[in-house]
Amino acid sequence: MSSYDEDFERQIEFDFLRATECAALNTLQWLGKGQKELADAAACDAIRGMLDLVPIRGEVVIGEGIKDQAPGLFRGERVGTWKAGAPQFEIALDPIDGTTNVSKGMPNSLSCIAAAAPTDGEPCLQDIPAFYMQKLAYPLEVRKASLADPKLPLSIDTPIGEVIELTARVLGKQVRDVVVCVLDRPRNQQLIDDIRTKGAALRLIQDGDIAAALAPALHTSSIDLYAGIGGAPEAVLSAAGLRCLGGGMRARIWPRDEAERTQLIESGWGDQLNREFVSKDLARGENLVFVATGISSSPLIKGVEVRGSIAITYSVMMRARSGTVRYIEAHHDLERKTIHLRSTGVERQV
Ligand code: FBP
Repeated sequence: MSSYDEDFERQIEFDFLRATECAALNTLQWLGKGQKELADAAACDAIRGMLDLVPIRGEVVIGEGIKDQAPGLFRGERVGTWKAGAPQFEIALDPIDGTTNVSKGMPNSLSCIAAAAPTDGEPCLQDIPAFYMQKLAYPLEVRKASLADPKLPLSIDTPIGEVIELTARVLGKQVRDVVVCVLDRPRNQQLIDDIRTKGAALRLIQDGDIAAALAPALHTSSIDLYAGIGGAPEAVLSAAGLRCLGGGMRARIWPRDEAERTQLIESGWGDQLNREFVSKDLARGENLVFVATGISSSPLIKGVEVRGSIAITYSVMMRARSGTVRYIEAHHDLERKTIHLRSTGVERQV
């Protein structure tokens, strides 16, 4: 066990959590309003504003906004106070995962941050310069079984039917009771058909695959596997969460067209196109923190609830080093609560 001073991410993790809480609270005004961009902008403004107060030297290594030109926080952006001697952090964040869900007032949206303190000069959170990755996330029990017997069929190329059978065997379930979650997209249609053919329980989601990828590693969720092609930044954030929870993930870059494939090759990523990344490749090291606050309810956490002048936020905070997962319910008095916004630089009432 390291000393309190060395183990600084345990001191700073609450500030990251405050940032996702502020993002969720500031997004609430846009829930169901059909204004994706304004919701995203509100979340970014609050998350940036809170991070401005945090005594770190943070650099955004994985931001949002590239895929859909959303008003995200971008790669290379500095966050924190940047005072001399402040600890250095790589930051990956998604101010809203499930922006469309927010705009429609649908379930499954959250705000999350993964932060990693590099110890050996090597980057911890792997920026993948592609839109999408093919992903397979599974529970701790399945990861342990595959570590014990690496010949078990568990790779990104394993037909989903075999992965389902393996999961059923390891979890002591029948195949029909293995619940597989998939993003409902045409590019995932073959996978969807294969899951149905196998007879497993399919759960399709419209958006928000970070909560879905973490779900198999949660004791509280009924989802056993998450599979399919979704966002690449979301894959890295999910990997960070899974590193803390103990579940596993395999992923591979999925160029969406020839132009992207060529671009990846030209930028030196050609030899990574066939690589199978495991969660430790995407989120390295032990000084790793993952925090998320629900905006609307997901398998990971409940969404914000407003009761009179009190807003209740539900968050999860976890660390890879200890594996401790904290669920935090915070009651915010809306008559007193303020949020520090980047746009104005001042505290504003929610
Ligand atoms: P945003 O909230 O950033 O729009 O992301 C939502 C999301 O559903 C992610 O959870 C998922 O990884 C990705 O979009 C899938 O991308 P696409 O919508 O292009 O299929």
